[in-house]
Amino acid sequence: MSRLVAVIRPIDLLLDFLNAEVARGETHCHLDEGAREALRDLYEVSRGGGRKAAAGVEAPKEKVVISVRESVQEEVVAKPAAVTELRVEGVSREERLESLRKQAEVWEPARSLGTLREMMVFATGNPEARVMLVGEAPGYEEERQGIPFVGPAGQKLTDILKAMGIKREDVYISNIVKFRPATAKQATNNRKPTAEEMAACLPFVRAEIEIIRPECIIALGGTAGEGLLGLTGTVTSMRGKWHDCNGIPARVTFHPSYLLQSGDALHIKRQVWEDMLAVMEQLGMPISEKQRGFFLPKA
Ligand code: URA
Repeated sequence: MSRLVAVIRPIDLLLDFLNAEVARGETHCHLDEGAREALRDLYEVSRGGGRKAAAGVEAPKEKVVISVRESVQEEVVAKPAAVTELRVEGVSREERLESLRKQAEVWEPARSLGTLREMMVFATGNPEARVMLVGEAPGYEEERQGIPFVGPAGQKLTDILKAMGIKREDVYISNIVKFRPATAKQATNNRKPTAEEMAACLPFVRAEIEIIRPECIIALGGTAGEGLLGLTGTVTSMRGKWHDCNGIPARVTFHPSYLLQSGDALHIKRQVWEDMLAVMEQLGMPISEKQRGFFLPKA
């Protein structure tokens, strides 16, 4: 009796492995000499024989098909089921956030839109944070590293936190949308998420807020103000006051990328800084005279 054994090409296994590494946020991977040798062989075989043929090994006529252990095949084909209803599981904050992260990856309301890219970027930072920052959606660099706010806007955000006397690893940083919004022929260009994309992902950021219960929330930019707080209008009309986000005081300020686009214009920097001073007061942080005077026009 013949037994049907599914076969998987080594190159597909390699791609699966590399994709999983990227999803874990890895940007480099070490290939030992054995792996290099295998890749060289694959390359040569794909060109029609090369070294193997020269060494007397017959090159396959069509595609390269090599059977692998069945246990490996099972690992490769197993795909988590789509999730349509959010269930927060676990006891500790870490466990509860991790349960959200796993569900976000296969969250059908977002995936079925077909307008978001594959790679999920969830959140980063301290689950015990006193401050939570919420942006709109990951961009090119965030998708590449699998971490929110790690591109130029992220560097600016880290600088702002530093000026406040807060370390980046002490806050919790998230986005409303957990996937980079897609565009035609996308390279490094990013776009804002649509209202539909934000609505699809909103249950996650709301659940994150419920798990962390920070002492205050900072919405970064007008899109986050709209998506998270249901506000309309310009950032100027949203900022400079406290809003309520499920009982937690929330402040809207300009997005760090707007600061970059403005060429770090002093009056924009000062407005962001005034929002941050309000956050520091809310947290009962000491504020020095020097800090109070940051980014004021020179007399
Ligand atoms: N802009 C955002 O709103 N979020 C990020 O993670 C990066 C840039």
